[in-house]
Amino acid sequence: MKEEVRKAIFPLAGHGTRFLPMTKASPKEMLPLVDKPVVQYVVEEAVASGIGEIIMITGRGKRAIEDHFDISYELEDVLMKKGKLALLEEVRKISDLAEIVYTRQKESKGLGHAVLCGRQLIGSEPFAVALGDEVIDGPEPALSQLVSVFHRVNGPVIGVQRVPKADVPFYGIAAGQQLEEGLIRIDSLVEKPSVEDAPSDLAVIGRYVLTADIFEILETQQPGVGGEIQLTDALRTLSGKRPIYAYEVKGHRYDTGDKLGFLKATVQFGLKNPDLGGVFREYLERILSLSDGAEGR
Ligand code: G1P
Repeated sequence: MKEEVRKAIFPLAGHGTRFLPMTKASPKEMLPLVDKPVVQYVVEEAVASGIGEIIMITGRGKRAIEDHFDISYELEDVLMKKGKLALLEEVRKISDLAEIVYTRQKESKGLGHAVLCGRQLIGSEPFAVALGDEVIDGPEPALSQLVSVFHRVNGPVIGVQRVPKADVPFYGIAAGQQLEEGLIRIDSLVEKPSVEDAPSDLAVIGRYVLTADIFEILETQQPGVGGEIQLTDALRTLSGKRPIYAYEVKGHRYDTGDKLGFLKATVQFGLKNPDLGGVFREYLERILSLSDGAEGR
C-alpha cells in the first residue's frame, strides 16, 4: 500500500552563525526574499508537494517564525478598516497555509537531534525533512520530486545536487550505484569530508523523505563532525540495514543562510518579481555599466 507523505519536519533551531551579526536576535529563516521570509517559500514548497502538516523544531530567538504563521487579528483589523483588501487576503493566506505545530530543541545538538525532537509528532509514518534556509527554485517543487521517487523506490530518499569539488567539505556527500539518470542507491555517505576523502561531488541538500526507522538509530547516534548528532551518520547506519537512495533534485538551490547565497537569491527573486523585475533589471544594468564605480540611483 502506498503510504502518503503528509508531514514534514523543519529544523529551525540553528544559531545562524554564518550570518552574524544579523542573526543575533532575529532568525535567519525570516530574512526576506523581496517580500516574503525565506521559510515561507519552504512551507509553500511543502504544501505544493502535498504535505499539509509541518512540525517546526525551533529554539530560543525564533518566536518571529511562530508569529509569522499565526493569525494577526490586530493587523487584519487595521487592513480591513483601511480597505486594503488585497493585503488582507495575502496576510490571511499565510496563517491558513498549513497545519503547523512547534516544538523546541532545547540544546544545539545537531541536525540529527533536531529531527529526533519530532519523533512523537511523526509517529510511524514516512515524513519529509526540509531545511528552512534553503530555497529551491525549480520546475517542480523539490519535495514533490523526492516524494515521487520515494513512492517508486519504496525507501528513504535524500535530495542531492552536484557541487564544485572545493565545496564538498561543507556538505554531506553521497555516492553509490547509479540506477537511472539522477537516481543512485547509496553505498557511501559522509558528513563534511575533506576534498581527498569525499566519495563523490553529490552534496546532500536540505531535503529528505525518510521513514520512521531512522528515529531508533538517532536515539543512540553518537556525536560526529562538530560534536553534533548528524543526520548523515544515522542515514549511513540505516543504509546498512535497508536500501536508501539519493536523487538529483532539479532546480536552482539558494543557501540563504550564507551571506553570498542570500545576495544571489535576492537578485534572482527580485528579477523574477512581476512588479519590480523590470525596474530592478534596469537598475542592475545601469550600475554594472558604470565603469567609474559611482553608485547608480
Ligand atoms: C546540513 C547537513 C549536511 C547538508 C547541509 C545542506 O549541514 O548536515 O549533510 O549537506 O545541511 O545544507 P549544515 O549546513 O547544517 O552544517
